[in-house]
Amino acid sequence: MSPPPGPIPSLETIRALLATRVIGATLHVHDEVDSTNRLAVDLAQAGTPDGTVVVAESQTAGRGRQGRQWFSPSGGNLYLSVILTGTNSPGIMTWIPLLASVAVVRAIQEVTGLSTRVKWPNDVLAYRDGHGRKVAGILAEATGGDPNDIRAIVVGIGINANMPLESFPEDLSPIATSLLIETEHPVDRIRLLATLLLEFEHLYAHLRTHGTAGIRESYLPLSDTLGKQVRIELVGGGQTEGTAEAIALDGALCLRAGDGTVVEIRAGDVVHLR
Ligand code: BTN
Repeated sequence: MSPPPGPIPSLETIRALLATRVIGATLHVHDEVDSTNRLAVDLAQAGTPDGTVVVAESQTAGRGRQGRQWFSPSGGNLYLSVILTGTNSPGIMTWIPLLASVAVVRAIQEVTGLSTRVKWPNDVLAYRDGHGRKVAGILAEATGGDPNDIRAIVVGIGINANMPLESFPEDLSPIATSLLIETEHPVDRIRLLATLLLEFEHLYAHLRTHGTAGIRESYLPLSDTLGKQVRIELVGGGQTEGTAEAIALDGALCLRAGDGTVVEIRAGDVVHLR
């Protein structure tokens, strides 16, 4: 039986529940921050160890993809950032956000029994009445400035856990959801956090030892985008349409356009058309 939603427990309580060795070995827990990603980038630049995790109960300026805000009230969601310094090969780095989405799907499944799917690259969707609604988002940010000299990658994860429908702003309520709404049960956030970090650690260790192939294999069956007709809203404006045909070896989405040509998309917002 899950405990009811409540404030984020203390650092010691969370640490006692973690079964990881690397991810979360250095742990920062805050009541309120502007953004766990912002804090994590600062920590990374100051040389924090690989696997450092920052968790917050609420964020006043939660960062979302494409410069958007991530709605981050207190009272029951998960906001965290994982700092990775143990790999700086660009070919591996592109897989980290996708790896994070696999860890999120697995943790949600294990803790709540809910099956979720991933809209490329890493939006975690829960399906109800034929509609996929976003239950978790991931924002990876590299530090170092130079794409060929990435010092660390910060993986920010936001999971809507115990947020009731009436707490969502009007613009989000048709497209977003929470674990509470989907399962009709409050989720034990700290068990979810501990499970997520353990899944993350296993996948990260696998990635570092065996390369990207295994992560790709884990990601493909969870993809909600492959095989669908999609519109991509490109970063910086413009859009393109086609059939999402494959995930390339570097994690790019391969789109077959109406004229038969295939384009590889590395950044953009996917809209599933059918
Ligand atoms: C998205 O737009 O889908 C990505 C959302 C990522 C939100 C998380 S919450 C924890 C971490 N800190 C941030 O400021 N953003 C990420």
